[in-house]
Amino acid sequence: MLNLGVLASGRGSNFQSIINEINAGRLDAKIKILITDNPNAYAIQRAKQHGINWMYVNPKEFSSKDSFYEKLADLLIAEEVELVILAGFMRIIGKPLIDAYPMKIMNIHPALLPSFPGLHGQKKAIQYGVKISGCTVHFVDEGMDTGPIIIQAAISVSPEDTEQSLSDKILQLEHKIYPEAIRLYQQGRIRLEGRVVKILDYVENNNYIINPRL
Ligand code: GAR
Repeated sequence: MLNLGVLASGRGSNFQSIINEINAGRLDAKIKILITDNPNAYAIQRAKQHGINWMYVNPKEFSSKDSFYEKLADLLIAEEVELVILAGFMRIIGKPLIDAYPMKIMNIHPALLPSFPGLHGQKKAIQYGVKISGCTVHFVDEGMDTGPIIIQAAISVSPEDTEQSLSDKILQLEHKIYPEAIRLYQQGRIRLEGRVVKILDYVENNNYIINPRL
């Protein structure tokens, strides 16, 4: 059983997909705490509905970025969290948390990294005119969306797609691959070689791309 700590700023649909996988018995994990930087995050309602311990931590109450992330690290360590899950947490993670959880923080990003890092990955993909986009689960390092890639899922972009329609399609993929990445981690099947993630005994497509027919 893997102890998870989830950080979310908003809607929390990825948080929900992880809850669902755990409740369905497909992910051997326990969410020990949800931490949010937004008192109005819908993720809080999801935590309440599922009896998950949650906490709002106001970044403005801290004198520096580092002290905010020291607090988060303290809270997660106190809950014996083993893997930190960023689920729509709209901040760049500070060094104290990365040092406390080296290669033990995962993030999901709504584009095929290293393309379109940062905010609005789907909008950037539409504006650039790419024909394929998707999402990426990666470990978090000190850069913005630069850490080792764990799995990606791809989807074609049609000429009719808008930022909204592409976001909706990508979100469906996010809900599949984020729990999958956590499962691989829980099963001890993720190995890091430099910045390259190797997944042991991975059979699907043999290339870590899941391409469901939507
Ligand atoms: C998701 O699309 C996630 O990939 C994105 O925010 C959304 C959160 O949705 N994250 C980023 O853009 C991080 N740079 P959710 O709150 O419903 O999980």
